Amino acid sequence: MYDPSLAPIDPAIESALDASADSRRDALLEFARIPSISALPSHAKDMAKAAEWISGRLYLIGATDVEVAETALHPIVYGRIHEAPGAPTVLVYCHYDVQPVDPLELWEAPPFDPVVRDGRFAGRGVADDKGQLVMHLAAIEAMRTARLAPPVNLTFVFEGEEEFGSRSLYDWIEANRDKLKADVAVISDTGYFQGNLPAITVGLRGIMYAQIDVVGPPVDLHSGMYGGTVQNPANALAIIIAALKGGDGRVRIPGFYEDVVALTPAEREQMRALAFDEEAFRASIPVPALVGESGWSVLERKTARPTLDVNGIWGGFQGEGAKTIIPAHAHAKLSTRLVANQDPMKVYEGLRAFVAQIAPPGVTVETTLIHGGNPSLTPTDHPATQAAARAIHAVYGIDPVYIREGGSIPVTSAFDHTLGLPVVLLGFAQPDNNAHAPNETFLVENFEKGTRVIVRLWDELSRMTPS
Ligand code: BES
Ligand code: MN
Ligand code: MN
Repeated sequence: MYDPSLAPIDPAIESALDASADSRRDALLEFARIPSISALPSHAKDMAKAAEWISGRLYLIGATDVEVAETALHPIVYGRIHEAPGAPTVLVYCHYDVQPVDPLELWEAPPFDPVVRDGRFAGRGVADDKGQLVMHLAAIEAMRTARLAPPVNLTFVFEGEEEFGSRSLYDWIEANRDKLKADVAVISDTGYFQGNLPAITVGLRGIMYAQIDVVGPPVDLHSGMYGGTVQNPANALAIIIAALKGGDGRVRIPGFYEDVVALTPAEREQMRALAFDEEAFRASIPVPALVGESGWSVLERKTARPTLDVNGIWGGFQGEGAKTIIPAHAHAKLSTRLVANQDPMKVYEGLRAFVAQIAPPGVTVETTLIHGGNPSLTPTDHPATQAAARAIHAVYGIDPVYIREGGSIPVTSAFDHTLGLPVVLLGFAQPDNNAHAPNETFLVENFEKGTRVIVRLWDELSRMTPS
């Protein structure tokens, strides 16, 4: 009999994982070859293909009620393995969509022809989040090989719009509450800390993503004939953007900080105790210097303080040489990262009003919301979080660190507030994974050990009393 005090996971599952190492790697490589970029309409077929790939795998591991649910945009894949009467039910979430891959020329290997090189998977989505999704499937597959059923009831929800704001998922959750009844949600879309320390994430930032369009004359004008007489949309946009954030790193939108829940002295101390190496972080990027809101550490600034960034800016002449024009229009995409209890809609309204107020005369300025997602905090002391900590300890021999992450997973707050579930953010990517950037990688070691953490977590959670 398996004795959890002696081995991290059941020896029969361990040997199944040993025996399937190659096929599990191949599964991720095959999955990562599907270019499921949610933001680009030209990849709609690939989104469907990725969803079909997952549903096929769900059937193979004995899931029931498997469904590729159509939405206004990309499908949601659902399935369940409820074979543990009386045991808790866990809602498992990962996403199968990936970010765009440009600039292509910076990739050492083509983004959708993934490889295993130097102990890492390399390709778009291997860390964010296809590798982690495949780990969840592989954990069950190994149990099946070992002729063991998962000791908890699992409900899988795999989404295809995470990188695009999760809009379809909110409605789908509302409409499918019955199918989503659970005791706890486990989201695997985060990572380890500093170097590669196993971590449980207990805070995520929210996001408000918007576009500003500045429109001037109906066509580009000769800048000699008109310069000095009409408002230049590019200049106007620069004036607006410059007003959004001060040199002190503070966002200037009136009321922006109003709802921010202050970090307690104890929380700040916990963050200090993580001994984040600011210089190593700077050098790892690398940039000449780190900047940001004064009065806060780098770790606080990147995970627990709100901020605003321009994501892209365009307009006017971009070609080689010179062209003397006043451009007809100019544009910017920008995002704010939000913390508890900021509300993306309220921040958007604040931005819109402020931009309208500061817009220089002679142009029309429009601010449009692209997407928003709430920030979230999850409980460190919840029994499910502690079960995850024990699972990590069993596999790694050390306790996890509890961290906040600066990124956003919009569905987290829906699981929390709409479904009323405690959420455990247990992810496995190493910090230097180049997510969203060229040359995304995922350590094979994390893929292997993390799969064992998942197996152990179901074991630990099976001993938790259902609510
Ligand atoms: N996996 C990330 C979220 C994340 C980032 C977790 C960094 C931990 C550390 C997720 O796929 C992501 O990139 N989310 C987007 C959300 C947005 C498009 C709504 C983000 O944070 O930009
Ligand atoms: Mn992700
Ligand atoms: Mn992402």
